[in-house]
Amino acid sequence: MDVNELARVPGVNPQVPDAARIYDYTLGGTHNFEADRQAAEYMFSLLPSTRKWVRMLRACLQGAAKRLSAEGFTHWVDFASGLPTNDHVHGVLPPDVKVLYSDINPLTMAQARVLLGNDPRVRYLECDIRQAKSFLERPDVRDFLGGERKVALGANGITVFLKAEENRKFFRDLYDWAAPGSKLFTTFETKDPAKTTPQWEQFVGMFQKMGESFELFSLPEYLELCKPWTPGPGGVQTVSRFLGLPDDYITEEDRQGVGIEFYAVILEKK
Ligand SMILES: C[S@@+](CC[C@H](N)C(=O)[O-])C[C@H]1O[C@@H](n2cnc3c(N)ncnc32)[C@H](O)[C@@H]1O
Repeated sequence: MDVNELARVPGVNPQVPDAARIYDYTLGGTHNFEADRQAAEYMFSLLPSTRKWVRMLRACLQGAAKRLSAEGFTHWVDFASGLPTNDHVHGVLPPDVKVLYSDINPLTMAQARVLLGNDPRVRYLECDIRQAKSFLERPDVRDFLGGERKVALGANGITVFLKAEENRKFFRDLYDWAAPGSKLFTTFETKDPAKTTPQWEQFVGMFQKMGESFELFSLPEYLELCKPWTPGPGGVQTVSRFLGLPDDYITEEDRQGVGIEFYAVILEKK
C-alpha cells in the first residue's frame, strides 16, 4: 500500500508526528511521513539503541504468534497493536487464524483499517486496555471470535505505558475472560533503578509531555502484576534469549548507561 493513501485518511495530518507511524519507522517500515521520521530520529539521538530493542520486540511477537499457532491456537486477540503492517501477527500467521487487533488511538485504527482492506479473518477495533473487560464482552468481539475464549492473546510493548494498578487490572480482566488453556504473550521493559542519564530523563519526559505514563517496574514486580497468569514452560526470558540470539548480541552500549533490559514471556491460564 502506498503511504499517500494514509494521508487521505480523515484526521491524518502528515505534518504532525503520529506515535504509530513513528513506531512503524522505528521498525524499518514505510508507512510514515517526514514529520514521523524526524520525531523518531530525535528519539534515536537520545537513545540510539531504541531501534534495536523495538525490532527485537517485533521479532519476539512474531515468534510467539508462530509458536502458538503451531500449538493449535486459531484465534489471536491483540492489544495496543499499533499499525498492522505486514510484519505484524496477521502477516506471519497461517490463513486459518483469526486476528483481532485493537488500540486506544482512533486515528491508529482508522489508518489500520485502510492498511488491512477487506480481509475477513482480520478485524481492528478501538479498545482502551484499561477497559479490557467490557471490550472482551462486546457482541462484535464475541461474534468475530465465534464465541471462542480459548485464545492466544498479545500485549507487546505496552506494560511500560500503564501504571501498576492498570497493569494489574488488565492482566486480571484477561484472565477472568479467557478460557483455561489460553496463553498470553507479553513483554516487560526494565532498567537498573539506581542509574539514570540526562538522555534517559529526556526520553521519559518526552512521553510524559504527551500525557503518557512511562513507568518501569522490576521483573519480579511485573510477574506479580500479571498474576494469576503464570509463565509457561519457556519461562520468562530476556528478549535476546527468547529469540535464540547469542549472549553478546546486546552490548553495554545498547543498555544506554541505565542497564536497559527487555523480557518476553508466554503466560498461561491453566
Ligand atoms: C509501543 S506501541 C506497541 C505496538 C505493538 N503492540 C507491537 O508490538 O508492534 C504502543 C501502542 O499502545 C497504544 N496504547 C497506549 N495506551 C493504550 C491503552 N491504554 N489502551 C490501548 N492501547 C494503548 C498506543 O496507541 C500504541 O499504538
